[in-house]
Amino acid sequence: MGKEDVIILGIESSCDDTSAAVLKNETILSNVTASQAIHEEWGGVVPELASRAHQQNIVPVLDAAVKKAGISLEDIDAIAFTRGPGLMGSLIVGTSFSKALSLALDIPLIDVNHMQAHVLAHFIDDPSKEKPNLPFLCLTVSGGHTQLVLVEEPLKMKVIGTTVDDAAGEAFDKTAKLLGLPYPGGPMLDKLAQKGKPEKFSFTKPKIKEFDFSFSGLKTNVLQFLQKQEKTNPNFIEENLNDLCASIQHTIIEVLMEKLVKAAKHHNIQEIAIAGGVSANSGLRAALLEKGKKLNWKVHIPKFEYCTDNAAMIAITGKFLWDKGVFTDQKTSPTARWKLG
Ligand code: KG4
Ligand code: ZN
Repeated sequence: MGKEDVIILGIESSCDDTSAAVLKNETILSNVTASQAIHEEWGGVVPELASRAHQQNIVPVLDAAVKKAGISLEDIDAIAFTRGPGLMGSLIVGTSFSKALSLALDIPLIDVNHMQAHVLAHFIDDPSKEKPNLPFLCLTVSGGHTQLVLVEEPLKMKVIGTTVDDAAGEAFDKTAKLLGLPYPGGPMLDKLAQKGKPEKFSFTKPKIKEFDFSFSGLKTNVLQFLQKQEKTNPNFIEENLNDLCASIQHTIIEVLMEKLVKAAKHHNIQEIAIAGGVSANSGLRAALLEKGKKLNWKVHIPKFEYCTDNAAMIAITGKFLWDKGVFTDQKTSPTARWKLG
């Protein structure tokens, strides 16, 4: 290992994924995530169960990440951890663990904003992918957030649009639940949508100002539509499942793309990225590529492993903060809300 090399350990525990990653400069050596199946039977994340599962998973996940990276704990220069936003009980586990490890190893701590990290995942070294040029516009779509982010510098981001109610991931998960799909419904709805007709059913799109989003109306619209159809055909969902998935997905993507195009035009930006769990959606990825071609955008789509929650994105954000000399200390505590910018 060269003397100038920097090794950063990333720790992520904001929701229901426990993850540890080892970053050497801008290259990921390992990124290990334990997802929590326990929430499936409850149809959503149960905070108390998530916190308990993080406690069980965090040591084995760290061990696996260090082993896979081929380093020893003593090689780590700093620990970057998610301080927020997220579920308080989940954040406490990752934060306390990181603080204890930093004391034990006598190395600095770096606190990371989870939403900033989703965006900065685009700066992880990847020979198959170009990094975004600055400034760029990022549509961050996850289970808890939907944001249009103007990235002026890696550590200088401005949220120019956000959801006024549900996040895009919630729209996927809640409508999937109405169709009887298991939690989290987004990935399954995506899979079934690929076999369906996106224009078969139409759902209302919200009228929201500027670059903001709203998704709670879609859930109500789908619910009322299904209730009406099931009155005459109790097997309506079963018989139309693929088309329902495709039509719901099509509506969500149209809403997202409309605002993304509007914001890109307004800010005169052609460097466009997506991030967050919903950026794994095949329909959204395809729509972005298609629109990008038409509008001459340079499009940035994350690798699947960096879409949903992961510690690699926390580690790369930690590296940017390390370069600027921004650290925290043992007095740090998690925060459920943490506005970007
Ligand atoms: O970023 P993430 O892992 O966690 C949060 O920070 O919230 O995002 C999770 C969200 C869930 O709502 C999940 O259903 C959604 O991302 N998701 C998808 C797909 N994969 C994950 N939604 C649609 N299509 C997918 N392929
Ligand atoms: Zn996330």
